[in-house]
Amino acid sequence: MKKETLSTLSRKYLMALTGLFLCFFLVIHLAGNFQLFLPEAQARESFNGYSKLLSGNIFIKAVSYILYASIIIHSIDALVITLFNRKKAGKYEYDKRGAVSKWYSRNMGILGTVILIFLVFHFKDFWYQYKFGSLPVDAAGNKDLYEIVIRAYGDLWYVLFYVLAMFALGYHLLHGFYSAARTIGVYHPRYVAFIRVFGTWYSYIITFGFAAIPLYIYFTHY
Ligand code: HEM
Repeated sequence: MKKETLSTLSRKYLMALTGLFLCFFLVIHLAGNFQLFLPEAQARESFNGYSKLLSGNIFIKAVSYILYASIIIHSIDALVITLFNRKKAGKYEYDKRGAVSKWYSRNMGILGTVILIFLVFHFKDFWYQYKFGSLPVDAAGNKDLYEIVIRAYGDLWYVLFYVLAMFALGYHLLHGFYSAARTIGVYHPRYVAFIRVFGTWYSYIITFGFAAIPLYIYFTHY
């Protein structure tokens, strides 16, 4: 096996593992964000208390660093693999994958870039604000992150940007899930049906679950 091929394989493996870890994070993040659907006073107390609990926990802090590293590794590996495939694609005229694969499978790079742009804004507006901004405090004395989230979705353009980014994320997950299953070798004929159904439902729940949050806030608060 050529050295180049071997390193591409290990890159794909690393991308699958970091991708699956990010999938796991999204479930936890969505579950935490569902507190935003509670009645206002309860949502504020519960969401701010939960954020405080997470930020003060040493174990969660350690997992956060793994999370940041996963985002960086996943993005860099994706870039390297895309560039390598593009270089290779020009050499084989018989490569007609475009004729049978889904559009989103062929555009993972573009979808990933949209998600990365989304994350830059997301980190700036929420993560940075929470860690380094001067936030108001709620009745319990906790940083009022709930207020920051509500204020952010007062702008319809921002809401639409989030919804669009969630659809990019959904299509990215739809392909990424099968791709990761294939790479780590669990796409066995016996489990194919299960992986397909699970991957599809997972992608739908994440997409519509996250997209519903800015829409709900915009239409109930503004
Ligand atoms: C409408 C949906 C979303 C809302 C309301 C939301 C809200 C938040 C808030 C308030 C924070 C700051 C809390 C903190 O740092 O402890 C945060 C952090 C974060 N969010 Fe989101 N989020 C949403 C969607 C997403 C999506 C779709 C992704 C990934 C594609 C994502 C990735 C992250 C990451 C990586 C962090 C940093 C977590 C950490 O520091 O441990 N979020 N989000």
